[in-house]
Amino acid sequence: MRTWTFQSAGSLLFGRDAIEQLPDIARGLGAKRVYIVTDAILARAGTVEKVAGNLRGADIAHDSFHVNKPEPSVEIVREAAAQAKAFAPDAILGLGGGSNMDTAKLVALVLAHGGDPTDYTGDCRVPGPVTPLICVPTTAGTGSEVSAAAVFGDTQKQIKVSCLSPFLRPDAAVVDPLLTVSCPPKVTADSGIDALTHAIEAFTACYNDAFPLPSGERSVYQGKNPMADAMAREAIVLVGKFLRRAVKDGNDLEARDGMSLAATLAGLAFSNSGVALVHAMEYPVGGAVHVSHGAGNGLLLPFVMKYNQSKRVSEFAAIARLLDTDDAIREVERLREAIGIPLRLRDIGVKEAMLPSFADKAFAIKRLMRVNARMPQNEGEILDIYKAAF
Ligand SMILES: NC(=O)c1ccc[n+]([C@@H]2O[C@H](COP(=O)([O-])OP(=O)(O)OC[C@H]3O[C@@H](n4cnc5c(N)ncnc54)[C@H](O)[C@@H]3O)[C@@H](O)[C@H]2O)c1
Ligand SMILES: [Fe+2]
Repeated sequence: MRTWTFQSAGSLLFGRDAIEQLPDIARGLGAKRVYIVTDAILARAGTVEKVAGNLRGADIAHDSFHVNKPEPSVEIVREAAAQAKAFAPDAILGLGGGSNMDTAKLVALVLAHGGDPTDYTGDCRVPGPVTPLICVPTTAGTGSEVSAAAVFGDTQKQIKVSCLSPFLRPDAAVVDPLLTVSCPPKVTADSGIDALTHAIEAFTACYNDAFPLPSGERSVYQGKNPMADAMAREAIVLVGKFLRRAVKDGNDLEARDGMSLAATLAGLAFSNSGVALVHAMEYPVGGAVHVSHGAGNGLLLPFVMKYNQSKRVSEFAAIARLLDTDDAIREVERLREAIGIPLRLRDIGVKEAMLPSFADKAFAIKRLMRVNARMPQNEGEILDIYKAAF
């Protein structure tokens, strides 16, 4: 085994009503002016006022920006950064799903280092610490509150791109499962299967000692390792137990607790091991048609599992046991259907003629290709998976 490390957010606070402790956390970071990156849906749900009220009660000044739609574009990130700059905050607070948390990360990055988000895409290109950053998830999905990634849409290139850097791990993650209660079933389902995808991709990743990182290159991903595996395993168990329940009854608090923990654990797992071919294949799809990241991943997951199966026989058997079944792929397919994830690319607006360009774009994302247990040798192998999923 090669050496491996395990990194997380600077601190992690988990539990019902955790947001009541936000003032202490902000003060701990030396923050007196907090800029909240959130959205109108969370404002309507009363979530923004809950957070803002806690800050006001502690004499912490704040202002907020509303991300206009999910899966942020580079344009909205630029606008958020410009408005944040005018407020002169000493901390940024991302409140929402991955879309808002990632926008907050990119705002913190641009405020500290200037330039444009597109200057920092790829692995380990952020030059140093960003503006102090607190992330508060309101979905149980992305794990962005602990991860080193920030994803946005490069509108020009029609693809989703990521900035990956240890400096993008928030200084503090505050996970309050009660904030997820207002998620409608579709958001619960899509974000929940994203968490499962993270756990499965991390657990079946390339082994740490075989991780093919070219010399001189750095990556926040380092392949499968025992610590990340422990978290991925527990995340898989929790998703198996609680995702159907959370989708069926949003007020099932035990299920909400379980899914919030699953998402954070899966975030800890993938942000150290890596995500792989499912994510690489989702980015061009998400860039071209309007589908949520989670739905795109959930759709593709069983097809990529089939592709990887021969390389990860024992891991797939372990996943089946964790899901209390004897066939991991079949169980993922059943779960997908039960919670209403689309089953075919043609059902989400993809045209067959788009597939070759998707395959070219996915194959070009080397930092994700090399994490996959079975590394695709050419675009054609990926095209075959897209065709199977079409
Ligand atoms: N940074 C990372 O590590 C990472 C990992 C995976 C995915 N992502 C990115 O995260 C984004 C997806 O994030 P997501 O799945 O959390 O969804 P999201 O943030 O896009 O939110 C989806 C919708 O749900 C609404 N919503 C969120 N919380 C709600 C609540 N509590 N009540 C009611 N409505 C609520 C939002 O307003 C939005 O309209 C994608 O852009 C994806 O690429 C990032
Ligand atoms: Fe994801």
